[in-house]
Amino acid sequence: MTRPLAIDLFCGLGGWTEGLLSEGWRVRGYDIEAHEYGDERYPAELVLADVMSLHGADLAEAELIVASPPCTEFSYMAMPWGRAKQIARALRGEDEFPEGYNGSRTVAELTALFNACFRLQREANEAAGRDIPMIVENVRGAVPWVGKAAWNHGSFYLWGDVPALMPEVVGARKLPGCGHGWKHPDDPRHTPGLDFTRLAGKAADGIKQAGLTGLRDNGKGSRWFQDGAAPSGSKSSARKAASAKIAKIPLALSSHIARVYHPGAIEVAA
Ligand SMILES: C[S@@+](CC[C@H](N)C(=O)[O-])C[C@H]1O[C@@H](n2cnc3c(N)ncnc32)[C@H](O)[C@@H]1O
Repeated sequence: MTRPLAIDLFCGLGGWTEGLLSEGWRVRGYDIEAHEYGDERYPAELVLADVMSLHGADLAEAELIVASPPCTEFSYMAMPWGRAKQIARALRGEDEFPEGYNGSRTVAELTALFNACFRLQREANEAAGRDIPMIVENVRGAVPWVGKAAWNHGSFYLWGDVPALMPEVVGARKLPGCGHGWKHPDDPRHTPGLDFTRLAGKAADGIKQAGLTGLRDNGKGSRWFQDGAAPSGSKSSARKAASAKIAKIPLALSSHIARVYHPGAIEVAA
């Protein structure tokens, strides 16, 4: 039997894709750049493209769409810093943008990539003549800008066709800095220099607080985000690699979604 096709938009290192592959899916990922760090790279077919430039008809043969648009601006604005709050006020038309800011200037611009996912789903449904389920993932800091999430798996917030039954969360924590490869507020304290140890235990929207004492995956605590070096050279590529790993969807989440939406699962249940 041919494996069903899933589309992974903004696929990064392929957290969604790993779960899908492990549950018998074929996956096509779209990203604006290929993330390759040593042995780590996207594990399925990768299409290099700006998601904004796609038409949903390109996705019409899929049985499932998953998407993780960049979260950096949402995460930044959720930080308890004057500059972050000023940017949020400016986007609402209540203040000026701070000097040197080069991020989104309108809410439409801020939410463009997130909203593109839903446009693509509508177009794909129309082209396919059936409903293709879609899950869009982002951070809690996105909620004020895009609306209430249907569910959160730790700090991985989900919109779209989220199944009624979801797995329990054990330490699923995502930290800001996941939006590599796209513009962000030009702030010296932005992603490359963030010091999350100072935020531990504080109520910062956009970061799941439970157990926030360091970073996962790289085993180096928060040093990736503390050195404040200029975003160039090997340190910056190490930081980018760390960001890409932190942004990865946890396998518990991606494999659950993969199982629920596998067409074989639907046939068995019917
Ligand atoms: C939050 S990360 C995705 C993480 C991914 N879901 C994972 O599990 O590894 C966002 C990704 O969006 C990509 N990206 C940013 N802007 C894009 C665009 N306009 N079109 C396509 N990909 C884009 C970035 O290169 C980055 O890999």
